[in-house]
Amino acid sequence: MKKSLQNILLSATAALVLTACNLGTGQNSAVEDTQIGLRNVELKDESNVKNPVITWKGDLPGSNEVYERSYENAPPLIPHSLEGLLPITIESNSCLTCHTPDTAKDMGTIPAPQSHYMYLSTGKKTVELNMERFNCVQCHVPQADAEPLVKNNFKADFRDGEGNRSSNLIDVLNQGIK
Ligand code: HEC
Ligand code: HEC
Repeated sequence: MKKSLQNILLSATAALVLTACNLGTGQNSAVEDTQIGLRNVELKDESNVKNPVITWKGDLPGSNEVYERSYENAPPLIPHSLEGLLPITIESNSCLTCHTPDTAKDMGTIPAPQSHYMYLSTGKKTVELNMERFNCVQCHVPQADAEPLVKNNFKADFRDGEGNRSSNLIDVLNQGIK
């Protein structure tokens, strides 16, 4: 009885010593937080963090080349300036003055596609824009003249000849399901 208690104590001490050693080596080989982020600063200290000055590309709507789609049915990038168009709220959305199917016909712009006028989950159509999409810039973003911080080798493959310039999500939505 006495012996086994001694054994337990001994192995408990050994475990403690081992844990302490592990912690020690862990600390020595730890990655510093200045090595983790792309900013290369101490992550817990925000005092010297400044947003870089960003120049957004694009002139007023109507005078810009559209970007190639990033991949098949990706949300297209905004090629024009957003000056005076933000913020977007539920009550006031300046994007819709040019991008609804009706206004786009009159103004010669690109209308928001059918997928924005329905519930994708049920297929039920909506008369107006499905308000789940009211915040256009949640998915569509303008572009800045900035070099990527991490090299990206992704190359998009488009199955449809037009796929790099327009979307057909509505036609391919159920591919592989039905
Ligand atoms: C005054 C009309 C007008 C307004 C307002 C407007 N756009 Fe546009 N938009 C255009 C035109 C015209 C184009 C075609 C490119 C160009 O000529 O600038 C375009 C292009 C786009 C494209 C690219 C589509 C593609 O097929 O590549 C997106 C995305 C877009 N706009 C999103 C928006 C969002 C989001 C807003 C609101 C913040 C907005 N637009 C407000 C007229 C407008
Ligand atoms: C939840 C993400 C999301 C939101 C929010 C959203 N879009 Fe889109 N949009 C997409 C995606 C993804 C596509 C491409 C696939 C498709 O057709 O649905 C697209 C496509 C488009 C296109 C190109 C249509 C074409 O024929 O190629 C236009 C224009 C557009 N959206 C405008 C808008 C406007 C204006 C708003 C705000 C009222 C908006 N979108 C909100 C994701 C979004």
